[in-house]
Amino acid sequence: EFHLHPKPLALASNGPLGRFDRQQLQRGFQVYKEVCAACHSLKYVSFRDLHEIGFTEAEVKAIAKQWAIEVPSVNPDTGEPATRKAEAADKFPTPYPNEVAARAANNNALPPDLSLMTKARHDGAAYVHSLLTGYQDQPAELLKKFPDSKTGTGLHYNPYFANLNIAMPPPLVADGQVTYADGTPATVDQMAQDVSAFLVWTAEPKLESRHRTGVAVVIFLLIATGLAFMAYRNVWSGIK
Ligand code: HEM
Repeated sequence: EFHLHPKPLALASNGPLGRFDRQQLQRGFQVYKEVCAACHSLKYVSFRDLHEIGFTEAEVKAIAKQWAIEVPSVNPDTGEPATRKAEAADKFPTPYPNEVAARAANNNALPPDLSLMTKARHDGAAYVHSLLTGYQDQPAELLKKFPDSKTGTGLHYNPYFANLNIAMPPPLVADGQVTYADGTPATVDQMAQDVSAFLVWTAEPKLESRHRTGVAVVIFLLIATGLAFMAYRNVWSGIK
């Protein structure tokens, strides 16, 4: 009774005819880049995939350069893994050198890769949007009923998260946290919607061609049904 279903989220990509809103995907990418990427990788998405949502080749190169990719050698002075600048063909890497470091930075929780998150969770995009905007104080009735459920240190109460206490601190906290190039006001809700839309695209970049194929198949089947019906009438026309 305390765990909530995601609030409905209307995205352009929803429904059997849905298409991506590329402006929105670009805004969502900006939120990922400036906020989420501090903790989360997108290991199935490469920088050059951003062409598909409207970035030019030069923009993709400039974006990739802002990330560092670990190379299999060690800096002899510091013992740290050596890195190089990312290129268009690289995937969005995790910001941590390894799982131990990732957990050490996150109260022992592991920030999951976000590439397929909107497929991994039921009602994915709506879930991500609700999760990001759902942080609140723990209800008093919950504590009264289940005192053991008290949100621990380093955890945050969120009724959309399955076990109600999540290790991720609220990532979107202030309107204007990012400044959108297209002038859209960056309210917390807008940023949450945009990054959710972006994560629909990372999880299924071919959604539009799937929808187009579906439409073509339905039209073909309608015509085939019409032809079959006319053939049936023709074949049986002489029989009384
Ligand atoms: C978990 C999204 C920013 C740390 C998650 C989950 C999602 C998510 C969808 C999975 C929840 C689940 O398992 O159902 C995002 C988005 C962000 C963002 C869209 C940007 C807007 C951050 C940042 C940090 C962070 C900046 C680090 C400071 C974590 C951690 C978890 C997590 C530690 C695991 C939580 C747990 O298992 O308790 N995030 N995140 N996230 N995120 Fe983020």
